[in-house]
Amino acid sequence: MSRSALAIVLAAGDGTRMKSSKTKMLHDVAGRPMAAHVVDTVSRSGVDAVALVVGRDGDKVAAACALPGVALEAFEQTERLGTAHAVLAAREALARGYDDVIVTYGDTPLVTGETLARARAALAEGYDVVVIGFETAEPAGYGRLLTRDGALYAIREEKDASAEERKVTLCNSGLMAFNGRRALEFLDAIGNDNAKREFYLTDIVEVALSKGGRAGVVMADADEVLGCNNRAELSELERIWQTRRRRALMLDGVTMIAPETVFLCHDTVIGADCVIEPNVVFGPGVEIGESVVIHAFSHIEGARIAAGSTVGPFARLRPGAVLHENAKVGNFCEVKNGDIGPGAKINHLSYIGDATVGARANIGAGTITCNYDGVNKFRTEIGADSFVGSNSSLVAPVSIGAQAYVGSGSVITRDVPDNALAIARGRQEIKEGRAELLRARSLAIKAARKGSK
Ligand code: UD1
Ligand code: CA
Repeated sequence: MSRSALAIVLAAGDGTRMKSSKTKMLHDVAGRPMAAHVVDTVSRSGVDAVALVVGRDGDKVAAACALPGVALEAFEQTERLGTAHAVLAAREALARGYDDVIVTYGDTPLVTGETLARARAALAEGYDVVVIGFETAEPAGYGRLLTRDGALYAIREEKDASAEERKVTLCNSGLMAFNGRRALEFLDAIGNDNAKREFYLTDIVEVALSKGGRAGVVMADADEVLGCNNRAELSELERIWQTRRRRALMLDGVTMIAPETVFLCHDTVIGADCVIEPNVVFGPGVEIGESVVIHAFSHIEGARIAAGSTVGPFARLRPGAVLHENAKVGNFCEVKNGDIGPGAKINHLSYIGDATVGARANIGAGTITCNYDGVNKFRTEIGADSFVGSNSSLVAPVSIGAQAYVGSGSVITRDVPDNALAIARGRQEIKEGRAELLRARSLAIKAARKGSK
């Protein structure tokens, strides 16, 4: 029979060491607030409800964590009296009586569902408290897991630890799971008789044991349970997240020539057989089909790129860029809110914004859609199989018909019908022999200047 579970995410700490105008819970890892990573992970690990304990910027943190399909309740912890006190802010949820309760921290975003599942498996075996521990050569600052003959008997906070206890390198990640049927019985028995006068969640181990319960440890990798207290740690979390995700994508069939230079976002989707060259940055909302090549130094966000397309080098795809099969957006091109048809080519130095480019159309070098008049934005429609000559300006709203041809250097302000040729530039004149006259005049000016010195 499957066990019911409540996940509590502690996110009331404000994180003064971030030196920020916003709570640390809202700082991004891979383009998403760190607390939202935790809510996402716990909700995917098969819990029935998620209780989010918030403090400063509570409404914003709750909004950032409101993920689709997640039953999330926010509880406010008005005073910060310690981690046990924070858990008890969700008393109402705890009182509903779940089999399992998982406690996670909003500032520990890399924990995996797999580790949480191992902790719950231990509860199912009959443990009442299961602490997620890790080994580190630098335990300073962490609570120590004290064991006797391999059995956990207490967690000692650094400030309350003896010199001997401080030598212990088995540390408390802070994350744990406990028997939901006895949760309030244990939590209500925790006092604040310690160095910080706080209600320590870590005391739950001794409380549970004193009430005849069983306590144990499941181990996690130190990287996985790294917390965030300052921006140096934030960058470390980012590094670990990126390394993990790049590897997952490579194992799923994506080639990265220099993976350490590719920056992914939490929701980046890349299909098999894609090649991502060095120095590519993905913002949010990118979905890439199979066998796409992203050349070096491209910046891509809010874009959908279908199979067989090629992007870059030095391309910028902004929100609303959609590339259909085998489209090409080449060097120094920017596409924003543009639908680029199958096989269409925008190869060099162009800006295509608020536009539709039909199938197989060829957009010449330096083509610009003039989509903004300083107040309003307008659309440009470019038909299938059309050809826009180099260095053309298409002044929106305007349309270029299917199979139409626009002469290079045109400034197009009126619609071009299907199959028509449009040329909108100064007509060329030829003046025979005038080059020689011009040269003579220039030489005369030069001589006169020398003489006057
Ligand atoms: C805690 C653990 C320590 C562990 C460490 C791992 C306790 C007493 N200590 O210490 O054993 O090694 O985490 O990082 O639990 N929070 C609230 N409200 C509060 C207090 C904390 O929501 O009143 C939240 C914080 O936002 C944070 C988490 O709980 O997400 C941990 O709090 P923090 O003060 O950082 O605990 P540590 O002192 O690091
Ligand atoms: Ca901490």
